[in-house]
Amino acid sequence: MKEQLLKIFQDHQGEYISGEKISQELGCSRTAVWKHIEELRKNGYQLDSAPRKGYRMVMRANGIHTHEIKQYLTTKFLGRELTYFDATESTQQIAHKLAQDGAEEGHVVVANEQTKGKGRLGRVWHSRSNTSISMSMILRPPLPPQKTPQLTLLAAVAVVQAIKKNTGLQCEIKWPNDILLKGKKLVGILTEMQADPDLVHSVIIGIGLNVNQTSEDFGEDIAHLATSLHLEKDGASGEPVDRARLIADILLEFEELYEEYLENGFQSIRPLWESYSISVGTYIYARMIKDVIYGYAKGITDDGVLLVEDESGKTHHIYSADIEI
Ligand code: BTN
Repeated sequence: MKEQLLKIFQDHQGEYISGEKISQELGCSRTAVWKHIEELRKNGYQLDSAPRKGYRMVMRANGIHTHEIKQYLTTKFLGRELTYFDATESTQQIAHKLAQDGAEEGHVVVANEQTKGKGRLGRVWHSRSNTSISMSMILRPPLPPQKTPQLTLLAAVAVVQAIKKNTGLQCEIKWPNDILLKGKKLVGILTEMQADPDLVHSVIIGIGLNVNQTSEDFGEDIAHLATSLHLEKDGASGEPVDRARLIADILLEFEELYEEYLENGFQSIRPLWESYSISVGTYIYARMIKDVIYGYAKGITDDGVLLVEDESGKTHHIYSADIEI
């Protein structure tokens, strides 16, 4: 019901809509309309009411509750089942549990705040309330386990394209899964799977995105390393970025790429990934747990492995590393 009510206000932006009209469209009583309006106000929406005119939405709440995401969602299956938390330790952890309990492909977990977010290589990922996006998608691709790193690359392309569509900002991908804006980290992607040696049960793709943080939110220690969309768009002077719309667009972009990938393989996605990448066609340091390789990043294989040619002309296959450009 909340979803439908938000849709009505969205279709009549800036206009008053009478209680009578809303009750007809929702098929409920005027008292029920009033109750739903009060709920929206409690959720942070600013709604004017005027005698004989009705209600008008003055300011959106920029929340990411299920109904707020669903009002924008145009996917076929991705995010149609959504689990939302005001706060949870990690959406990744919840998604693993749901997948083990039989959740279907496309189920997405979203949180307004994570208190113990997981980053790559055992690092901590900070996701503050109200400003970030933390979400984990459950997939069940018919793929062998060695192919699943490609899904990280698909996710990176989806996020870059959705950000461009929503903000006009062009981000860059640093292999394998960092998304940077003006050299600072904006998005982290963590892909994990539950699999037997030759069969994938589920793949969980976690996406953490800095959306509306201000410079104070980052603190001195990471301000030179991390940024947010709001900070980079109009120098933080404009409206905050609508997180619900951005989530819906990431899901749509990913679903389209995923369907294309399952039908035609990675070859059709690869040129897109390469066009956004800053880590191919340049000299890089690939820092691994025990080794550092310096060389020319020639490209990625169809399995998403980075190819680096060192000074002796030897090509190294890099499966996991931190890249320094
Ligand atoms: C990285 O280290 O760059 C990856 C960070 C991934 C963070 C996301 S936020 C949503 C999901 N839940 C988690 O606990 N981690 C991922």
